[in-house]
Order: sequence, then structure tokens, then C-alpha cells
Amino acid sequence: MLSVVPTPITVRVPAKVNLHLSVGDTREDGYHELVTVFQALSMTDEVTVHIADEPGIEVRGEGADSVPTGPSNLAWKAVRALAERCGRDPDEPGVRVSINKGIPVAGGMAGGSADAAAALLALNHLWRLEMGRDELAGIAADIGSDVPFALQGGTALGTGRGEQLIPVLARHTFHWVIALDRRGLETPGVFSELDRLREESRPNRVGEVEPVLEALASGDPRQLALLLGNDLQAAAVSLRPGLRRTLRAGVQAGALAGIVSGSGPTCAFLCTDADAAVRVAAELSGAGVCRTVRVAQGPVPGARLVTDDRAD
Ligand code: C5P
Repeated sequence: MLSVVPTPITVRVPAKVNLHLSVGDTREDGYHELVTVFQALSMTDEVTVHIADEPGIEVRGEGADSVPTGPSNLAWKAVRALAERCGRDPDEPGVRVSINKGIPVAGGMAGGSADAAAALLALNHLWRLEMGRDELAGIAADIGSDVPFALQGGTALGTGRGEQLIPVLARHTFHWVIALDRRGLETPGVFSELDRLREESRPNRVGEVEPVLEALASGDPRQLALLLGNDLQAAAVSLRPGLRRTLRAGVQAGALAGIVSGSGPTCAFLCTDADAAVRVAAELSGAGVCRTVRVAQGPVPGARLVTDDRAD
């Protein structure tokens, strides 16, 4: 009998930066209450899923060697979660996942979460499940706090663990320079370090989120630059003191402002326009304060099929 093997499905998915990250109290489940503004950036991973006799995961590209290919990989958790939801055997899902990394690994840009979001969307098509974005977002939230945003993209206000999202109007495109560090930082360790710092002293906290939303709506990068803030920055800098030098070097190179991205150690620098970003990137890469430098723009859309460029 002739059997038709579905063609592989590829999804492109963006990195994120937190323009504002306010970390509140620790909840009973161990997570911290957050108020954050995410922006999706034009640094992407590509995730391909295909039917295979030998299920599993393979990773290539930027930092691939340090990405786990076992059950702790978030994309694999996504495969298992979706298999379970639709009544397939989660231990033998019959798919292979190939990840091509463009997002820094353990960099505070939600690369692992992005791969999980991409795997959900790709499998939804490969298995012809026809789940809507809301249903996928519900599964995404169980996999990790940043996974729903990677599906949604754009600019969004996140509350709860960061998984409850409201889209935010961002006029114009913002231009960023991204400085990648030599080694990653583990997110739980950075949250614990903030808890420790808060027991010891009173590190500064970011202000209210409303002015950030107003600056985004105005589209003025100078206004937004004054308001960038991240409560996790003190903790990331405490664990990686060299980040202070990186942050200073970006501003000296001509950026409007710099910030640690999420739990770090990646630093993101907001620039006036695309030309300025190229100039800042060139100068920063010569300053010897980071492993490599990229230019990126935001906001960009969330996870999307690249196979045929349909929106969902
Ligand atoms: O949700 P996710 O698995 O991405 O979170 C990774 C870790 O980051 C959690 O285990 C927790 O230590 C920390 N975290 C937190 N509060 C949040 C989000 C993450 O403490 N809102």
C-alpha cells in the first residue's frame, strides 16, 4: 500500500529582550511574580520537525554543543506535552526535531523557550491537529514562562510568571545591538542571587511599567532608553561582574542605553536608528568586552511557518 509521509515542517522563532522586568515576591510554587515588557527581536532559531523511526533531537548552529539533546530540552518537552494532549505515546512520538540555533544559548533571550514554541507550532501542522493559538499558548505556559511569548511575538506586557500576555502597541521599529558573553548564566541561579541580594540589602527596583508603554506607543527610542530597567540586572552583574564593563562600553560606543537581557548575560543596547546600531556594533566589537556582537530589530512576529510562509 502506498503511504504518504508528510513533508517536514520548519518554523522560525524569535529571541526576546525584556525592556522592563519588575521582579516581585516569591510565590508558593517557587516562581517570582513578574511585570515585564517583552519585545521579540530579529535573531531567530529554525526548528524542523519530521516523521522518523528514530525519535530524538539534534542541534546545530551557534552554541549547539552546550544544548542538551535529552529529555531536558524544552523543544523535546513540547513534543511530549503535545503528544500527550492528543493521545499519542509521549515516549515514542515518532518525530525528529532539528534545531538550528541563531539565538544565544543560556543568554537571557529565551532561546530554549523559543525552540519549544516552534516545536509546538510545527507539530500542530505536521500532525494536522488544527489547534488554535490560544490552545497552543495554554500548553506553552506549562512548558516554561517565556514560551507563550515566543509564540506570540511582537511587544507584550507579561504578568504572572511572565506567561500571561497582553499585546502592546509599539510604533516604529527599534534598533538594538546585542553583546553576547563568552559563557551563559542559568536562570534559576540568577533569580536566587536576586533573592540573596534582597536579603542582604535593598537593590534598586525598576519603576512603574506605564511610562514604558507610553514610550513604546510614541515610538521615540530616546524616551524609551530612559525607561529601560531590569530587576535581574543587579543579580546578573553580581554573578558576572564583567558585565558592568560591557554595559559601559556600549553606551561609550554611542548607544542610548544598555540593559542586561532577562537573566543575562547577554546585554542589549538601544540605538537611535539602524545606522547608529551598525556604528555602535562595530565599535563595541573592537572594545574586547564580549564574545561577539549582533545587530537586531524589534518588534518582529512570533513563531511562524517558513515552509510556505503561512501566518499560523
Ligand atoms: O518558567 P521557566 O522554566 O522558564 O523558569 C526557569 C526558572 O527561572 C524557574 O525554575 C525559576 O527558578 C526562575 N523563574 C522565577 N520566576 C519566574 C520565571 C522564572 O523564579 N517568573
